[in-house]
Amino acid sequence: MGSNKDEVQVSYDVSNEFFRLWLDERMNYTCAVYESEDQSLEAAQLNKLAILSDFAKVTPDSHVLDIGCGWGACLEYLATSRSVKKATGVTLSSAQADEVNARNIPGVKVHDADFMKWETEEKFDAVISICMMDHLCSPQEAREGKAVDIYREYFRRVHAMTNPGAWFGLQTILRNRTPRRGQILQDLYFVTHEIFPGGLNPRLEEIIAAVNPYWEVITVKQRRTDYQRTTAEWLRRLRLNETAIRQEWGDKCFEDYQRYLDTCVRCFDQHISSLAQYELRRID
Ligand SMILES: C[S@@+](CC[C@H](N)C(=O)[O-])C[C@H]1O[C@@H](n2cnc3c(N)ncnc32)[C@H](O)[C@@H]1O
Repeated sequence: MGSNKDEVQVSYDVSNEFFRLWLDERMNYTCAVYESEDQSLEAAQLNKLAILSDFAKVTPDSHVLDIGCGWGACLEYLATSRSVKKATGVTLSSAQADEVNARNIPGVKVHDADFMKWETEEKFDAVISICMMDHLCSPQEAREGKAVDIYREYFRRVHAMTNPGAWFGLQTILRNRTPRRGQILQDLYFVTHEIFPGGLNPRLEEIIAAVNPYWEVITVKQRRTDYQRTTAEWLRRLRLNETAIRQEWGDKCFEDYQRYLDTCVRCFDQHISSLAQYELRRID
């Protein structure tokens, strides 16, 4: 179902040092939310984490679950900026889990596991999941009409792991439309199959259908232009480090990532892709 461990390694295990060169200092690998024209990527990423933590109604005493926690930017933010005493992350990337656990962030524990198979005795009061759902359903499964059932199983699992009264701050990249021809179609195919194999961006209407009967949609915010600006900034930083990247990881790595990020900028600009944030309340 969706990206398996080997496929996730293609997406996230190039090298932690490689991603550190062009992401923000906390290594958020998802859309930032800009409050002004001159705001930095770093500040916009913190703003995004604040919005999702507010959607999840996080308090210092909440036990928070971060599904698809990446390199731990949100977990660290929860522990340091929101005084959360206990936060648990899950990622399918071993390199990410090792990196976060090695930092020994107080109250933070990360599991190297497939969330769709992960078993836990713990119950959570608040959930955050930032751009992990695009790994859940493969292009083949989407063609077979399985997307909503797969996403509903994800929402069922999150519901089963939470306490009554829980809230969920969710962020997903979106597939608005598929171009029918031209270079952009080839580039999008490249990104889907070479950079993020095994996954496919969900449609907004699939997410809205799949939350039932587990979660009530309170708020949906579309952030298409924010993701265009985020990916443009990643591309700028990647190019600034071109020489170092070509030397350390090879010409193909630089050119693939340049093509991928440039494709993202054009897809957000042309409404092919978008991004949404959701404030979800558990149906008890
Ligand atoms: C685009 S990254 C986002 C990381 C992080 N949330 C952030 O904002 O930087 C997607 C994350 O989802 C994780 N992931 C994908 N499929 C998963 C699965 N089945 N179970 C657990 N984690 C998964 C990846 O390992 C990666 O950490």
